[in-house]
Amino acid sequence: MGYRDFVLKGDIAYSIAKDALCTSENSFLVCIDGKSAGVFSLVPAQYGQLPLIDYTGKLIIPGLVDLHLHAPQFSFRALGMDLELLDWLKVHAFPEEAKYQDTAYALRAYTALVEDLKKGPNTHCCIFATVHVPATLLLMDLLEASGLVSLVGKVNMDRNSPDGLRETAGSIDATREWLDRCAEKKDKKNKNCGPILTPRFIPSCTDDLMRGLSELQKQYRLPLQSHLSENQREIAWVRELCPESSCYGDAYTRFDLFGAEVPTIMAHCVWPEGEEIELLRRRGVYVAHCPQSNSNLASGMAPIRRYLDAGIAVGLGSDIAGGTHTSIFRTMTEAIQVSKLRRFTGCDEAPLTREEAFYLGTLGGGSFFGQVGSFAAGYEFDALVMDDTSFAPPFALTIGDRLERAMYLSDDRHIIAKYVRGSAIQ
Ligand code: GUN
Ligand code: FE
Repeated sequence: MGYRDFVLKGDIAYSIAKDALCTSENSFLVCIDGKSAGVFSLVPAQYGQLPLIDYTGKLIIPGLVDLHLHAPQFSFRALGMDLELLDWLKVHAFPEEAKYQDTAYALRAYTALVEDLKKGPNTHCCIFATVHVPATLLLMDLLEASGLVSLVGKVNMDRNSPDGLRETAGSIDATREWLDRCAEKKDKKNKNCGPILTPRFIPSCTDDLMRGLSELQKQYRLPLQSHLSENQREIAWVRELCPESSCYGDAYTRFDLFGAEVPTIMAHCVWPEGEEIELLRRRGVYVAHCPQSNSNLASGMAPIRRYLDAGIAVGLGSDIAGGTHTSIFRTMTEAIQVSKLRRFTGCDEAPLTREEAFYLGTLGGGSFFGQVGSFAAGYEFDALVMDDTSFAPPFALTIGDRLERAMYLSDDRHIIAKYVRGSAIQ
């Protein structure tokens, strides 16, 4: 019997498909070697000797997944929220990110972020760092020690960026150095935090840089994250920069950096044009939907219903600091709100249901990491135990109702235990 073999008892909810939520009252969730062995109404005989942790009356759900956030932007979240994307990048994001040249500054700022993430409901995150190798490695060390699971990218940018962030010929060399350091850490049994290639977006990356990243991708077989079709001014700029591309997505495809062999996350995808939806689907690219950021930076309302109907993989992102809160509970509710507002722009699309929003923030994004975001047998054992009694009404609720209220009403104080791969996060 290992230390990651145990049973939790409580009121359990998890997605098994985008519109299928499983709920089991007063049931047992079995963890064997850091993986779910399933949910049972009685403890099966073979697990009868395992330690049982009794959370009767509490909600037990999978950990939440943030497919898109910028670690260096945590420090200035909730500032500049009256600006649009390109002005906000220039006035707030780029000057702040330049400070991460200083590793002492990075240590202070990244420690605050990782503390926030540990206390919150997310267990898995895909993260942009900055161009700086030492600060990115430092962030990865902090995340590794946190017990959370993450993919972190040293950002690449060699044009249209201010001094201090613009990498000239050295971007690929620096990326190679960073990847070699990551490989050394992996040899030392680092297991929670790994690298992901991170060209910032097309306006920040020359063709030479994209070619170099494509070579690195083929050599190291890494996943990739970037931004796509976020904001209309940005998209017009990409059109000017890449007149030969049929759409924004095609500007990545030309360098083999858009799905297919490359597990890829594209943040936002608010304004798909031309063949972009078909390209996202065919190449298996994940859309990181960031509704709060899209409102704050006046980007728009992403057509998530169309993506789901087309069979495109979708997860949720906080997009700190386009978004102000790391909790993916909050992003779930914003995804529902924005899906309803789309109607007022003349779109005839069904809004997202609570089951779909919960799916997007768990299994939808989790599948990028493998078997993550559900309690079906074989999935990673990532669980939140939520005490929702402080907002329980004087009438009976189903587990689905309680889950909806937890999405809208809970905060970090309601999380009474958090497990990642079968280990408790302290
Ligand atoms: N596009 C390029 N960089 C960024 C960024 O930092 N945040 C957002 N929201 N969009 C971007
Ligand atoms: Fe972003």
